[in-house]
Amino acid sequence: MVTPVADMRSFAEAVPASYSDTDQDRSARDGAMVRDNSVVDITKITPETQRAAGLKKWTLYPDTLGMWVAESDFGVASVIQSAIQEAVDRQAYGYLDPALAKETTDACAAWYANQYGFAIDQDLIRLVGDVLSALDVAITHFVPNGAPVVIATPAYMPFIPLSKALGHPVIEVPLIQGDGEWAMDIDAISAALVPGSLFILCNPHNPTGRVYRRDELEELSVVVDAAGARVFSDEIHAPLVYGEAHHTPYASVSETTALHTITATSASKAWNMPGLKCAQLIFTNPADAQAFDRSGAWESFSTGILGVVANKAAYRDGQPWLTEFTELMDSNMAALDTQLAQLLPEARFARPQGTFLAWLDVRAYDPPEHIDAYLREHAQVSVTDGRSCGRGNEGFIRLCMATTPAIAEEAVTRIAAALTHRP
Ligand SMILES: Cc1ncc(COP(=O)(O)O)c(C=O)c1O
Repeated sequence: MVTPVADMRSFAEAVPASYSDTDQDRSARDGAMVRDNSVVDITKITPETQRAAGLKKWTLYPDTLGMWVAESDFGVASVIQSAIQEAVDRQAYGYLDPALAKETTDACAAWYANQYGFAIDQDLIRLVGDVLSALDVAITHFVPNGAPVVIATPAYMPFIPLSKALGHPVIEVPLIQGDGEWAMDIDAISAALVPGSLFILCNPHNPTGRVYRRDELEELSVVVDAAGARVFSDEIHAPLVYGEAHHTPYASVSETTALHTITATSASKAWNMPGLKCAQLIFTNPADAQAFDRSGAWESFSTGILGVVANKAAYRDGQPWLTEFTELMDSNMAALDTQLAQLLPEARFARPQGTFLAWLDVRAYDPPEHIDAYLREHAQVSVTDGRSCGRGNEGFIRLCMATTPAIAEEAVTRIAAALTHRP
């Protein structure tokens, strides 16, 4: 049985006023998981409501607080819910209407232009089911047989096994941690790249939350170009960045990066709808788009129509909700920082500049090898084990902070107790 989250009310009191509801909002949602366009009444979100909603983060390890997979507990913005509802009411379950596809790729291009100042040719954007399918496209169609895939680690968990499953050797290049900030090891990446190889750039970076500066991307582009290699730029987390950080699309850095890059993104992470299956494969080299189309573009056929509708709504009208969600995540990260200083002072944590993920180094507490299983058993909290992010990440954990301040605080309290009082 799950221990109820300790004293929800006291945590709720610590929540900024903007995150609580008006009576009107509340009555509109009573008893339902449908979210208002402002981020919801967080006092209504509990482990029980999330399990009842059938979220994998909460149902896979039902006796734990779900802090692992990158799903949010805040549902979707009402503009997205309404768009989906409207499509459901029309029973729009057929094959994708090219006009809707075009509106969505145009909305994605407009998002890139407005948010990042990058004018993409919208005719070079293709829809696919998800970002991992886009990576599959990049590797299958654009990396010669046997050429290595180079991945900075820690890495989003599927990158390494997917690249290997597609028949390519993988070279893991650890990030370096200077003054707290994680950075790419450009010399080591340079040494790993050969003609035809693919570097997977994840920016903003999962799991560390780094948002790379333009000068870092420029440095990367020099070694990629010199090697005759290519880049897959995974920008799925780009809509969610904090404070001073600014997302720079890698393909926007120069004409050279535009030509050697295949970009993928989706509204699915920031606006919380990965199950709806729609991502954007952004070509900035016209020859790549032509090659994809000539191949039959089969991957586009697995795009979900409700996902297309939802992505269009997010890019067009989702900004106000995202701003509020980002503020809530930023305050969750600040609270995590404070709580770690009190309860796990030997843990290392660099505040993320983007993403709702937190990457914690708890090696100082000499954790057991299977830290995820240990924390599920002894803290009743499910986390992502650093070992699944590449070699050398034992003793790290990734927390998904897209939950209420109360649940996050309770989870960290339990993790700290389990790490500091080993049975
Ligand atoms: C960096 C990154 N890339 C890709 C994905 C998977 O995206 P999709 O569900 O669109 O394949 C995730 C999911 O969390 C992610 O964090």
